[in-house]
Amino acid sequence: MRENDFVSGSYSGPLMNGKVTYKSPSNIALVKYWGKKENQVPANPSVSFTLDSCATTTSLTYSKLDEPGKDFSFELLFEGKPKPDFKPKIQTFFSRISAYLPFLKSYHFVIETSNSFPHSSGIASSASGMSALALCLMHIEKQLFPEIEVDYFNAKASFLARLGSGSAARSIKGPLMQWGHHQDTEGSSDLYAITYPYKLHEVFNDFQDTILLVDKGQKQVSSTVGHNLMHGHPFAEQRFKQADDNLSKLRKIFIEGDLVNFIKIVESEALTLHAMMMSSLPYFMLMKPNTLQIINKIWEFRAKSKSHLCFTLDAGANVHVLYPKSDKELVLQFIKDELVAYCENGQYLCDQIGNGAVEI
Ligand code: DP6
Repeated sequence: MRENDFVSGSYSGPLMNGKVTYKSPSNIALVKYWGKKENQVPANPSVSFTLDSCATTTSLTYSKLDEPGKDFSFELLFEGKPKPDFKPKIQTFFSRISAYLPFLKSYHFVIETSNSFPHSSGIASSASGMSALALCLMHIEKQLFPEIEVDYFNAKASFLARLGSGSAARSIKGPLMQWGHHQDTEGSSDLYAITYPYKLHEVFNDFQDTILLVDKGQKQVSSTVGHNLMHGHPFAEQRFKQADDNLSKLRKIFIEGDLVNFIKIVESEALTLHAMMMSSLPYFMLMKPNTLQIINKIWEFRAKSKSHLCFTLDAGANVHVLYPKSDKELVLQFIKDELVAYCENGQYLCDQIGNGAVEI
């Protein structure tokens, strides 16, 4: 599908008032998106596991205005209370998507949103939040165009979510999502994410992600600023090529369930992401001393136990520990014995691979 396919025709049906709720999960990238072109086009393709319990639930109440407004009309409640600091992000999102949803200025919206994970956990809610809101808006679009089919619905929801936050494009479905064109992945696109179309070995079913909350504070540098620093970055081209190559290699690894090589790619991607931050100008660092302590402990434990756990990182200090379900008991015991000490207030969240957003 091309960009024009997402421009809605003029709607003929009557606009109705209503309310819709979606619960949308967070996701964790294995091959990282870091660097983008204009209009939220990624500099390289990325692939992620969709999570299951880390999610945002968003309700959208929509009331028809007597006549379309000049600007967007909306209120935003986070955990039941007005949240003015979220409004500029939604305003930008609405202005980016209004060409694709012509009804936006014909409604007053009340957006009520909450996260399953603690607010100050350092877990970004933009992926789950933007995808939940995009899906709620697609519900209105579907009322106006009932002939819309499910594949188009999901592709357009992902397309819209991407315009809110790139990684949100990958939170619509699961268990493994690819966003960004890659020559070896049929149907892949820079405009929206697709469910990874090739076989995923059963070892990845129920793959676990335990998120160690190392630093729950606000990040010093936002992802958007970080992405921009890839423009003119001395290693950018090489990095984008590396991501492309890693995606090619993963195809066989996913089919065969080759965890040894899976681990090498996933950990290298995480460290490269942070290496890009550290070699930007201005340079910055989001890892904390405890992030490094945990990584070293994981390496030691892996060598000793022969289990297949590995780590990955987002744009922050928290560590995602990934492992097959068969290793759950062993790894959770290791986390309790050796890693909890490095978590802020001993906190961690247990999650696993999931299947994507649901209407509630
Ligand atoms: C490090 O999706 O948060 O998590 O498009 O500017 O909203 P914007 O960026 P965002 O970047 C996420 C970067 C990452 C890697 C990833 O999820 O692929």
